[in-house]
Parts: sequence; structure tokens; C-alpha cells
Amino acid sequence: MLRIAVLVSGGGTNLQAIIDAVADGRITNSKIVRVISSKKDAYALKRAQDAGIEGAVVCKKDYDSAEAFNKALTDTIQEAEPDLIVLAGYLTVLPASLAEAYENRIINIHPSLIPSFCGVGYYGLKVHEEALKRGVKLTGATVHFVDAGCDSGPIILQRAVEVKYDDTPEILQRRVMEQAEWKILPEAIDLIANGRVQVINGKVRIM
Ligand code: GRF
Repeated sequence: MLRIAVLVSGGGTNLQAIIDAVADGRITNSKIVRVISSKKDAYALKRAQDAGIEGAVVCKKDYDSAEAFNKALTDTIQEAEPDLIVLAGYLTVLPASLAEAYENRIINIHPSLIPSFCGVGYYGLKVHEEALKRGVKLTGATVHFVDAGCDSGPIILQRAVEVKYDDTPEILQRRVMEQAEWKILPEAIDLIANGRVQVINGKVRIM
């Protein structure tokens, strides 16, 4: 049974996609053991509570140093003894020590086709604003392993989504969530839970 800790910061629609996929069997052999939010008022915590999943808050501004925050976050994660950590709309930078300790056991959902529109500063609506500014005809979402960099770890799954000429960033974000994020994140978790994901020389092989 794959023990999953999900890190969130906001609405939690990706968390909800995971909860629903575990419930309906699209994710097998898995259990969400803890949801950890970087914000006290994240609606994702309500989603966890409604699903009977233990929630916790580790908020950077509650700590007087980066070291104290990093320790609190690491302890809160390790208490749950997860096999996999899922960043689902999590907007705080993870301590490098955590990425090292959980090499190829932390995944993130990013709302673009990496390596486009990713890296420092590219999160939430900004990603879609830049895609529309560039005039791309396809965008999408990527699930990747988290390494010490920003959106730079081995890519697990991607799914493309059409960009329409009159899209606003909000309309495009919603389409990417519905058609890509909420599908490939659960799919990636199920593949990992069933031992079908290998990382060979920095590249992912799906068996
Ligand atoms: C989404 O745009 C997602 O792509 C990004 O964070 C945003 C909010 O996600 N990772 P959620 O609704 O909190 O899951």
C-alpha cells in the first residue's frame, strides 16, 4: 500500500482529483495519509477533512527562520511516514534536503508542457498568461519528479491541451485542469503505486 502525503496551498482541485481517483479505483494500492498545507485557510484542508484525511498546516511566516520552517515541514511529513510526496498546487519552495532525502519520491503537477513556461516565477495564472502572450496553439500539464531545481526533475507524464484564440488565462487554466492536470496526476500516482515507473539516467520509463 503506497502511503501518500499531499502538499497543498490553495483550492485543492488536484487533491480532490486524487481523493476521487482513490475512491473510484483509478488509483489502486494507495492511501492518502496526510494533507499538509502552507496556508491556514486553504480550501484544500476542507476537502481533506470532508474525506476523513488528517490535515496539517506548516506556514512559513509562523517560523522565525528558514531552518526552523524546513525542520517543521520535514518533521510533519516524516511523521506520516509517506512513500510518496505529491505537490498539488503547493507554492512554497521545498528545502533541498527534502528533495535529496526523497529522491524520485516527490512528484509535482505543473500547468504547462515542461520545458515551456516553467521555472522560477511560473505558477498559477502566470503560466497561462505567458502561454497566451506567446501565442502557442498547444499547452497542457506535466507531472514530474521533484529534484533540487525548479520544475526540472524527470518528466513522468504530459498531456496536451488546445489553446483557443479568445481564451482568457482563467478559461485556459480551467481547461488545462479539467483535461490534463486532474487526469495525469492520478494516472502517475497509480503507475508509481504499481511499480510501473523507472528512472534511468534521468529519464522516466513507464513499464
Ligand atoms: C493549478 O493551476 C495547478 O496547476 C497548480 O496550482 C494551481 C492550483 O491547484 N499546480 P489546486 O486547485 O490547488 O490543486
